This record gives sequence, structure tokens and C-alpha cells, in this order.
Amino acid sequence: MSNEFTPKAIRRFRFSELKSEPTRLSIFEDWVTNMTMEKDGEYGEDRIVDGKVIPGFWSWILEQNEDPEFLASDLYGTFVWMHYFTGVVIATGTIAPDDRFVKRDNNLGGDGLWGGVNVRSGHGLRGQGIGRRIVKELDEHVASFAQTQSRIFHLFTANPIAERMYVNLGYERNGMINTDAFGDERLLTKIYHQS
Ligand SMILES: CC(C)(COP(=O)(O)OP(=O)(O)OC[C@H]1O[C@@H](n2cnc3c(N)ncnc32)[C@H](O)[C@@H]1OP(=O)(O)O)[C@@H](O)C(=O)NCCC(=O)NCCS
Repeated sequence: MSNEFTPKAIRRFRFSELKSEPTRLSIFEDWVTNMTMEKDGEYGEDRIVDGKVIPGFWSWILEQNEDPEFLASDLYGTFVWMHYFTGVVIATGTIAPDDRFVKRDNNLGGDGLWGGVNVRSGHGLRGQGIGRRIVKELDEHVASFAQTQSRIFHLFTANPIAERMYVNLGYERNGMINTDAFGDERLLTKIYHQS
């Protein structure tokens, strides 16, 4: 990892905080909207597939962050890791009550899903332990909400690297799931027992 992105220089923000920091917000928006599936593993902007509009990553983030259930608890949030001084976005990840109705439509139950976990491509940032660090932080965040009641979270992914990261956090493979946006993906589930 290049020195300018050493772990100490990376700070985590909530998307809600960025709303009062227009420069950081626009840097984040720029990063997300310019994503491509080939380069970043995400479609940044909306696209049309078989005549249907499939929301891109940016629309998804905005939609989540306007959802009353999402806004009702600090458990839920979109987190953004940025290099503190330059504002370069390093990574993002979201903890949400649902993701594209996957929980509702598949009767998964539980408290929600993780989504939109992405480490910046380029700058030699991937494969340097940043993904492992941010999913650990997200996992600890969710676990901190299991003090008064157990929590159950799900996530789905088609990326075997991500799948392994989640299994290492205690997520268990829980079959396959089909989404309009991405087709068949692996479903993983974890019970955060009351601590
Ligand atoms: C998946 C992703 C978040 C991983 O982030 P990262 O910073 O590159 O990953 P890390 O360097 O922290 O590595 C995490 C683990 O994956 C392994 N890994 C990383 N890159 C790898 C590669 N190219 N091939 C094989 N294993 C790899 C690491 O060895 C590490 O394993 P370990 O913890 O057992 O040592 C990142 O690649 C990404 O954003 N991908 C596109 C979006 C995506 O698929 N997100 C997940 C959707 S839920």
C-alpha cells in the first residue's frame, strides 16, 4: 500500500455526515457514479436492461439513505472510508434493513442486509487488507447492536473473495438468491448472539 493511504490516515464517515460536507460528498458521488462493472464490480449509474431501469450504485445509496426504516436506527448506515487529508475515497459499505426487497421477497427475516461493500480499484488499494479491515469494522458495528437482543444479518455476493471474507467473520452459506440486478448470488447469514 502506498504510504499516503496508511491505515491511520483513513477515517470512517457516515453518509449522513457527508451531507454537511459538500466537498467530501461530491468526491464520494463522483467515485461511485464513475464505477463500472469491469473496473469496480459495480454499475455506478442507472442502466436499462430488457426495457427495465436497474438503479445503479449511486441511486441505491440515495434510496437507502432516504428510507424511513433505515433512518430510524443508528444500526443502519452507509459508511465511507476516506483519506482524511486528500478526501480520496478508499472504500464504502452499507448496513440496511433490506436490499432490493431480497429480505422481504424471500422471507429471510432478521434485521437486515449488508450491501455495497467496495474497496477502491486502482491506486494498488485492493488486495492490501483494506476489505478485511472494513468488513471487520462493519461486523463490530452490527455486533454492538446485539447487546440487548440477538441480531440476524444476511448478505449476498457473487464474488468468491468477498464470500471468503464474510465466512471468516462467521457468516454461513445459506443457499443461492436471485436478484434482478445481478442474477444468481450466494446468500450468507450470521446470527449475532446477545452479548
Ligand atoms: C471484495 C473486496 C471488498 C475485497 O477487498 P480487498 O481490500 O481487495 O481485500 P483484502 O485485501 O482485505 O483481502 C481480503 C481477503 O481476500 C483475499 N484476496 C484479496 N484479493 C484476492 C485475489 N485477487 N485473489 C484471491 N484472494 C484475494 C485476501 O488474501 C484476504 O484473505 P485472508 O483474509 O484470508 O488473508 C474488493 O475486491 C471489492 O471491492 N470488490 C468489488 C466489489 C465486491 O465484490 N464487493 C463485495 C460485494 S458484497
